[in-house]
Amino acid sequence: MDKNLIIPNHIGIIMDGNGRWAQERGLVRTMGHKKAVGTLKDLCIHMADMGVKYCSLYAFSTENFKRDSSEVDFLMNLFITAFKKEFDFIKEKKVRVLFSGRREPLPEGVLKVMDQIVEETSQYKNLTLNICLNYGSHAEIVDTTKKICEMVQKGSISLEDITEDFIQSHLYQDLPPLDYVIRTSGELRLSNFMMYQASYAEFYFPSVYFPDFNCEEFDKAIAEYNKRNRRFGGVK
Ligand code: IPE
Ligand code: IPE
Ligand code: MG
Repeated sequence: MDKNLIIPNHIGIIMDGNGRWAQERGLVRTMGHKKAVGTLKDLCIHMADMGVKYCSLYAFSTENFKRDSSEVDFLMNLFITAFKKEFDFIKEKKVRVLFSGRREPLPEGVLKVMDQIVEETSQYKNLTLNICLNYGSHAEIVDTTKKICEMVQKGSISLEDITEDFIQSHLYQDLPPLDYVIRTSGELRLSNFMMYQASYAEFYFPSVYFPDFNCEEFDKAIAEYNKRNRRFGGVK
């Protein structure tokens, strides 16, 4: 990889198209989710090696509970097995794992591995992986608003303390803003992903389904990012 390339500080990936990937091969949708785990592992290793600092991954939205319970159950079990199985590479690469989203109504087994992985990786300083699981921007804004209102009610802060930075640091995780949002599968929407954090992000919508979004596809995304001219409202 070209050493002069600018690596986005915080990348968001909306991992979409698993179901279609499987259906196009005559497989059940869940096989696409299974395949996606391998793709994700390769990508994480690649990002860690390349020096990406923060990556937020959209794994399951608050709206995904609308799906058939068999698919939801498959995904919950897949999260448990994947987090357990991939522990080794996460530790080897010194990846810090965080989660964003509501705990309710995630199953106990999922919460347990989530808590364990967060605790065991909390000291790592390489790539920070923020996994958005049972995540929705609307839910995040509601939950953050309630948290801040409680602080005001208790008198621990006053209204003047509520600044843009304050809100940013009281979201589910205190992370820098997104620089680049990649959504695979050709869909051109955010689907409730990190709206606050993505306000000045660049967007990239490759048509490949997530299971086929390999390191080569990722490098194409980074090359595209390097062609963008970010102005943040100014003139450049
Ligand atoms: C993304 O793939 C994974 C999750 C939402 C959990 P999809 O399951 O949405 O796959 P498509 O979009 O139906 O192909
Ligand atoms: C967004 O994909 C959520 C994840 C990738 C986890 P969806 O497949 O759920 O989004 P819509 O329904 O097409 O907008
Ligand atoms: Mg989808």
